[in-house]
Amino acid sequence: MQLEGKKIIVTGGGSGIAAGCVRGYVREGAQVVFCDVNDEGGKATEAAANAQGAAGKATYFHCDITDKAAVNEFFAKAVEIMGGLDVLANIAGVERNRPATDFEPEDIAFIMNVNFNGTVWTNQAAYKIFKENGVEGAIINYASDTGLTGMENGGVYAASKGAVAAWTRTIAMEWAKESNVRCNCVNPSIKTPMYKYWLETAGPEVVEPYLAKLKAMFPIDGDMGEVDTDLVPVMVFLASEGSRYINGQTICVNGGLVMVR
Ligand SMILES: NC(=O)c1ccc[n+]([C@@H]2O[C@H](COP(=O)([O-])OP(=O)(O)OC[C@H]3O[C@@H](n4cnc5c(N)ncnc54)[C@H](O)[C@@H]3O)[C@@H](O)[C@H]2O)c1
Repeated sequence: MQLEGKKIIVTGGGSGIAAGCVRGYVREGAQVVFCDVNDEGGKATEAAANAQGAAGKATYFHCDITDKAAVNEFFAKAVEIMGGLDVLANIAGVERNRPATDFEPEDIAFIMNVNFNGTVWTNQAAYKIFKENGVEGAIINYASDTGLTGMENGGVYAASKGAVAAWTRTIAMEWAKESNVRCNCVNPSIKTPMYKYWLETAGPEVVEPYLAKLKAMFPIDGDMGEVDTDLVPVMVFLASEGSRYINGQTICVNGGLVMVR
């Protein structure tokens, strides 16, 4: 077991990547407290993670990461249950797709509130606990290759993820200098419900050429990856001591779709 005794908070665990991480962290012996706004998904992940017969344990709470006060309450409950905190994996995110001309203030507020503001509130809450307890913790945020390349019909989502990457690099400087806390972000390309949503909403003018080029775009497998086999092992490494000298990086788990120098 690679994460025996680790205390980990995960956001967005009701679905996709974060649900896979909750299951994977529990398999590796960690205590995990996780949240979502989708209670049905959250409870299903909790049941699946705890049914693996592993040494770790998962506990679900409802928490909307756009609400700073609710985030602080959730983190306090998590610390009470686990007796501390070593790692935050902030994975919750949302997407809305439309041409760049058509975004309204409500779309921008919705996307930025979850993807960017939620990152700030959860990161601040984790760092405060690390600092109070003298823990050299790890923060793993979720950005996206779209923050580097742009995203046709997904301009506000791409901008929100570019903001997450810039924020992560900034706290990687400030918080490592002050407390040896390391902060990195992951750019995944993984088949999840969000990917399905993109296939259904990005528009045939974007999706059809993408699907036609899929094999050529992904050097490994000619396809998007799988959560359990392609991403969870990286998330276990980023939560473990082996990654303590990796800081301020964008880690692309994308089969080589986009290559970052
Ligand atoms: N799947 C990919 O290939 C891909 C690519 C680039 C980036 N990402 C990023 O990876 C992360 C996970 O994506 P996924 O594909 O697993 O998506 P997903 O839609 O399957 O899961 C996202 C989860 O976040 C939860 N969530 C949304 N708003 C929330 C809020 N306010 N508070 C708490 N939870 C909230 C949702 O209910 C959902 O359970 C996201 O940040 C996404 O932007 C994914």
